[in-house]
Amino acid sequence: MKGIILSGGASTRLRPCTKVTSKQLLPVYNRPMIYYPINTLIKAGIKDILIIISPDRSGDYLNLLGSGRQFGAKFSYEIQDKPEGLAQAFIIGRNFIGKDNVAMILGDNIFEDNFSKDIKKFKKGAKIFAKEVPDPERFGVVEFGKNMKVISVEEKPAKPKSNYCVTGLYVYDNKVVEMVKNVKPSARGELEITDLNNLYLKAGELKAAMVPGAWIDTGTFDSLLEAQILAKNKLQDKFVI
Ligand code: DAU
Repeated sequence: MKGIILSGGASTRLRPCTKVTSKQLLPVYNRPMIYYPINTLIKAGIKDILIIISPDRSGDYLNLLGSGRQFGAKFSYEIQDKPEGLAQAFIIGRNFIGKDNVAMILGDNIFEDNFSKDIKKFKKGAKIFAKEVPDPERFGVVEFGKNMKVISVEEKPAKPKSNYCVTGLYVYDNKVVEMVKNVKPSARGELEITDLNNLYLKAGELKAAMVPGAWIDTGTFDSLLEAQILAKNKLQDKFVI
């Protein structure tokens, strides 16, 4: 299993802090934000990691993370010229993925849990990770039937069919590099990860698991503050890097 950390985007919501560096390099308590998803992948046994970044911030990433050797990992880098959607990671990352399966995590997502069992168990298809939230309309939303069977996934629906949002960790088999070619840009001009997940759903190959522990998407100043507190109180002993 290879890993991708998607860490591009302009992060205009966190201006002026993001005028000088990328959101995913801002501090979350005592570490840069991206250390959290790096830690999540490495704890899950994934050490061959592609970091996708925006062109104007690439120097900052190289200075901070380098080869990955200091973390016992191997980091590669690719540039995403414009933020054209989460699913574009599998077009940009095609050569890196090669013949392997791949787990992608968003550079601004902070998880408390250890996903090594899910990663080891994974054989084929696609797997997403759901969390109950009070404001599902802000996220991808997954609707469940019996035995956690996925019935639908929708991107930021006005009327969510459940309170379960899709978190920013996704696991795909190698077919993803072909499947992504069938994803068309959405109304907002992005290759949506939700459209990719819907292709797997149509093929009967989309599975979901619950995220038992804490999870935060640090897209706003309030969620960033929440992440700082979580990091201080609960995540310090979860680090292996
Ligand atoms: O956090 C989980 C949510 O992430 C999911 O529930 C949604 O289904 C998924 O679409 C995504 O929603 P967001 O509104 O959070 O996406 P956002 O555009 O904020 O991008 C998420 C992160 O990925 C952000 O740190 C920037 C980075 N990004 C985003 C895009 C669109 C890139 O690196 N490249 C991109 O092209």
